[in-house]
Amino acid sequence: MPESRIKLYYKNVTDEVIGAENGITSAGLKALAEKTSPLIKKLNRERKSGQTPYRDLPFNTNTVQQVKELAGELKGRYENLVVLGIGGSALGNIALQTALNPYMHNLDSAQRSGPRLFVFDNVDPSQLASFLDWIDDKLDKTIFNVISKSGRTAETAAQFMIIRKLLLDKLGSEGLQSQVVAITDANAGTLRKITDDAKLRCLEVPDGVGGRFSVLSAVGLFSAAMCGVDIDSLLAGARDMDVRVSCEDFYKNPAALNAAINYHFYNHGKKISVMMPYSYALKDLADWYRQLWAESLGKAKDLTGAEVHIGPTPVKALGATDQHSQVQLYREGPNDKLFTFLQVEDFGKDLKIGPAPDSAPELGYLAGKNLSALLNSEKKATEYALLQDKRPCLTVVFDNVNAYTVGQFIYLYEVTTSLAGALFGIDTYNQPAVELGKEATFALMARAGYEELAQQIQPVTEIDTSYLV
Ligand code: PA5
Repeated sequence: MPESRIKLYYKNVTDEVIGAENGITSAGLKALAEKTSPLIKKLNRERKSGQTPYRDLPFNTNTVQQVKELAGELKGRYENLVVLGIGGSALGNIALQTALNPYMHNLDSAQRSGPRLFVFDNVDPSQLASFLDWIDDKLDKTIFNVISKSGRTAETAAQFMIIRKLLLDKLGSEGLQSQVVAITDANAGTLRKITDDAKLRCLEVPDGVGGRFSVLSAVGLFSAAMCGVDIDSLLAGARDMDVRVSCEDFYKNPAALNAAINYHFYNHGKKISVMMPYSYALKDLADWYRQLWAESLGKAKDLTGAEVHIGPTPVKALGATDQHSQVQLYREGPNDKLFTFLQVEDFGKDLKIGPAPDSAPELGYLAGKNLSALLNSEKKATEYALLQDKRPCLTVVFDNVNAYTVGQFIYLYEVTTSLAGALFGIDTYNQPAVELGKEATFALMARAGYEELAQQIQPVTEIDTSYLV
């Protein structure tokens, strides 16, 4: 078991570095410790009494066994795995694949130990049509993994209905049965009904685990295991982090510090939270974080029912790419952002930069250096520049990116989210605002029972041509 532990570095949010007007003073940190410490205890109590079931996912040996058995049975037989899902039923799968498999996984069979992975988390017809054209003669070598906790999500249902017809037409009901793995609620919901009726293979989303907290359940583990990710190490990393984020000493608890620092800056005018990995592998974890943070913390009401309209806006950027896109704004635009860099010490593979051409001796400073040294210097350079402009910066340091450290990161941010929600005094686990859009879609697609809503929507969304230029 690798021992590498990710670390949260927070000196660059303090007044020592960015001054008292922008940074957290030691008295400020003490006040945050006093406010957060009881919430760590509360969270630990809630966890013990089963109120936060996502905390138990890394300990669920039954799920791991089921996932491994199914993956073991299917892995060698299929060349493609297609995940159909959206939001929490897709973002974790994408993040694990990008983080833990080589960049060329899908294109180079020598670089993969399982099937190619495609995740469809949209209903864009041209995207899916192009894919279906490609997969058409490979259907018998393809497993479809439909993931929906509720089973009523229009996007996933529509995708599944297209694939179901394709499989039935080309391979009959046997093809449907053998080539679909559903992941859904154990007892309820539309996908559960379909699964039972068609006798599809099925894994479960545990009770009480919301989509955005489900990556360490079968939702994320099945596609990961199929594609060669070491899910034992992933969960071991999460368990290791569980000890650290349960620690009741605020100053030793990375989730408590992370949540409190985010909470502090939100209340001090920094309403935007930028996560900027300096690692391509980690880029989709920033996307996963974006959903976790936005759906969990963006709330109209607090727990007392008072209207608060609260929530930091999570933004994803990628270093060094976005230095040439966003950093002008980050430095000279409004000082309304907290930055969190993800930094990797050892990329596993490295490249030496070749010699400078004779015609360009000014490039000599790069010659012979490692590419990782350039990327990490760029991280430090960007951070330095931001600090000159008094912008607060956190860094999550990875010794290296592997299943064990990624498991730690996921669990760290899940518990950070729970603690941030507790600090903001909101319900972290609901998402009432998503519902209206879902219902409006039902209405616009003429679902029975939504006729009245359809009538209300029409005058608002119909294009008024007098405003069309
Ligand atoms: O975090 C959430 O709960 C959501 O993002 C859901 O994952 C998303 O809406 C998909 O829901 P379902 O899995 O029910 O299809």
